[in-house]
Amino acid sequence: MPSLDDVATARLARARDEHLLRVLRKSTRRPGGQVARPGMELISFSCNDYLGLSHDPRVIQAAHQALEDYGTGAGASRLVTGNHPLYDSLERLIAQVKGTERALVFGSGFLANLGVIPSLVGPGDLIVADRLCHASMFDAARMSRAVLATFEHNDLADCARVLETKRPRHGRCLIMTETVFSMDGDRAPIVELATLASEHDAWLLTDDAHGLGVCSSAAAEIQVGTLSKAVGGYGGYVAGSAALIEMLIQKAHTLIYTTGLPPATVAAAARAIEIIRDEPNLVEKPIANARAFTEHLRRPPASSAIVPVVVGSAERALEASAFLEEHGFLVTPIRPPSVPPGTARLRFAFSASHHPESIARVAALTVDRGFA
Ligand SMILES: Cc1ncc(COP(=O)(O)O)c(C=O)c1O
Repeated sequence: MPSLDDVATARLARARDEHLLRVLRKSTRRPGGQVARPGMELISFSCNDYLGLSHDPRVIQAAHQALEDYGTGAGASRLVTGNHPLYDSLERLIAQVKGTERALVFGSGFLANLGVIPSLVGPGDLIVADRLCHASMFDAARMSRAVLATFEHNDLADCARVLETKRPRHGRCLIMTETVFSMDGDRAPIVELATLASEHDAWLLTDDAHGLGVCSSAAAEIQVGTLSKAVGGYGGYVAGSAALIEMLIQKAHTLIYTTGLPPATVAAAARAIEIIRDEPNLVEKPIANARAFTEHLRRPPASSAIVPVVVGSAERALEASAFLEEHGFLVTPIRPPSVPPGTARLRFAFSASHHPESIARVAALTVDRGFA
């Protein structure tokens, strides 16, 4: 067997040759959507903090207060002694904005999917997933040991075909999609998928990571999401019926066998969700900014805060991103395996704090250089 370092070095060399090497770059986020990197200040179009709530003084104050009252850490799993009183108000707020009976908070959106999906289906069952679903949903599907089938992106006819051919041979069936697709910014036909689910005796799970705080979608029976994007902090959740939540408290390993979130994180998320609930004018801004951008690009109006500009090869995506960085804009290149081969892209994420001049300028640079 080759040495571990030989294997690692060979893999790194291959990734570098294919323009797929990932690097961690020091980045300090500032209020107003700015990011400082060594030697430069950039206007970021790569943060999912769509409403700028991570720097909102009201949210910061709530976190400070919780630090004072409860200290820095939860100390144990929520099922042991980590379930401090702030969880209750956060879960009530999530259930309120989602229109469900209950909600349950996890350590992150990734952990929510890893906990929820294997608790719902197992060996002998079937998962039918949009093929562009997030990695956490596919990892969770594999962990569940249910049979996993995919349908073409947002293609209802293909989903129906998969259900017709595979559903009869399995016990339970779970259909999975995202409300807003994280790398494409388009939205799933939730009402139609819910109809297919009921016709085929299946459950529907949606991941609303990029929807909450930006755009609302029809409700599915099982709604997973994150507190790390528009909510501006960290954590994940599932919203649904009281029976579903009680069942997950018994079964979800990523709830049971991990420490609860720090109290300050829970307090910040609760305050941020109150703001999302109470300030529709703020919530409208990211999409309005995304639409200003698509208008500059002479494209159909954006349907979320995410606008992809597909450039094709990974090399071209790196080149496009470096060009925008030279002009003061941070637009991280997204390359395989995060997106399918040949569809590397610039992923523009719009926030409430972007100014019209920056949007016009970054659009002009993108078009003039022939990237869009
Ligand atoms: C669709 C989707 N689901 C889940 C996640 C994971 O959420 P978190 O960052 O809270 O782990 C993300 C992004 O990170 C996402 O885009």
